[in-house]
Amino acid sequence: MSDLVTVILAAGKGTRMKSALPKVLHAAGGKPMLQHVLDAAKEAGARRNIVVTGFGGDVVEQAMQGQAEFVTQAEQLGTGHAVMQTKDLLSDETGTVMVLCGDTPLLTGELLKKLYDAHTEAGAKATVLTAVMPDATGYGRIIRSADGSVEKIVEHKDASEEERKVREVNSGIYCFDAKALFDALSKVTNDNVQGEYYLPDVLEILKDKGEKIWAVAADDYECTLGINSRQQLASAEKILRRRKNEQLMADGVTIMDPDTTFIDADVEIGRDTIIYPFTWIEGKTKIGENCVLGPNSRFQDAMIGSGVTAHFVYAHECEIADGVTMGPYVHIRPDTKLSEKVKIGNFVEVKNSNVGVGTKLPHLSYIGDCDMGAGVNMGCGTITVNYDGKKKFRTVVGDNAFIGCNSNLVAPVTVEDGAYVGAGSTITKRVPKDNLAIARARQTNIENWLDKRK
Ligand code: UD1
Ligand code: CA
Repeated sequence: MSDLVTVILAAGKGTRMKSALPKVLHAAGGKPMLQHVLDAAKEAGARRNIVVTGFGGDVVEQAMQGQAEFVTQAEQLGTGHAVMQTKDLLSDETGTVMVLCGDTPLLTGELLKKLYDAHTEAGAKATVLTAVMPDATGYGRIIRSADGSVEKIVEHKDASEEERKVREVNSGIYCFDAKALFDALSKVTNDNVQGEYYLPDVLEILKDKGEKIWAVAADDYECTLGINSRQQLASAEKILRRRKNEQLMADGVTIMDPDTTFIDADVEIGRDTIIYPFTWIEGKTKIGENCVLGPNSRFQDAMIGSGVTAHFVYAHECEIADGVTMGPYVHIRPDTKLSEKVKIGNFVEVKNSNVGVGTKLPHLSYIGDCDMGAGVNMGCGTITVNYDGKKKFRTVVGDNAFIGCNSNLVAPVTVEDGAYVGAGSTITKRVPKDNLAIARARQTNIENWLDKRK
């Protein structure tokens, strides 16, 4: 087990988001920014994660329940003050404390691991992750001495003209030796332009004590970007989508148009699946191999097998087995299970139902609260009448039943195995095995009707 503990700063209000929601809970790439940070921390091997909350702390805590420990920073007096709030929680820690910010959704576990490894290898008391920015405005600058070692970090607002020319910046991510961190923090003052307790001051304090401080540069500044506005959130969204699509393509998934394909970070897709444009694949969706999905489809928290075809489909919180074909214009709603080789044709809605192997719902049906066997054929326009205005009832349709077009199955009702239902029937009673049920008015033809009318 690693000795790594993280402290994730998330107390700021995020004023520029202009939002009632705490900034770190805004989502990019399908999950809250803070979730991305926590996931990266876990991937880097963190043993404990402590989130410092302030604005909307209870909401943040609720959203991340069970994934971290939380401490409150009642007043936001600076990043050093924020880390100080974890002192009691971490008093027994003797290993490494990594400080992160909750608003950096582009971080990767790999980058954090690299920082941690470099810190450990150097045997430093503090190691800062730096990035070279095209425009360093607003960031703390890394001030190095003639021999290249880090001297200190100077905040933009406190920096001289000369210091502001430096483009290497403090990413706001660091590793510290736990004891050295809290010793040094107790010496940080708020004697600066912003009147805040700056965490980066810890580096200079340690340096002055003769301790080793170290820096690691991120290969790609993009990974360290903090999000402060909705514009920046949209940029992060784009980067996360691009990354996800690139990873899937590298793993053998065909994405015809990555610019119009939106796949959340935690989605899994098997090889040789082909995704047509304008398709959203979200949440915890898992998709097998050799599927053809889209165009214009949306999957949310759907478990999809292999060899599935879906075009113009919206499927959520459902299970779809191998070889199912769906679409166009199909809505598969929560708690639906479609077994192998089910065929769902155009304009069909299925909700909270089990559909057996090879069953066909080819056209224009509503199937709700229904347990359907294998090899059933539901004629065009068949619907389950599952709701009496107060309660929902289930319909059961046995194996190999054949339901004629435009039938109503009024639940609770059972059509047994191999039974037939005549087209246009409204079925309110059990249809026994192998029977034919016809439940409609008989046809009457009135002879010479037109002549009589005249
Ligand atoms: C900070 C760094 C700066 C670095 C930059 C990188 C300091 C003093 N400066 O500046 O060197 O280049 O990050 O983005 O640390 N927070 C709290 N409590 C507080 C203050 C801040 O939790 O009292 C949190 C914020 O919510 C945010 C993070 O700490 O997640 C950084 O704070 P912010 O005010 O954005 O620091 P910067 O001025 O950007
Ligand atoms: Ca910031």
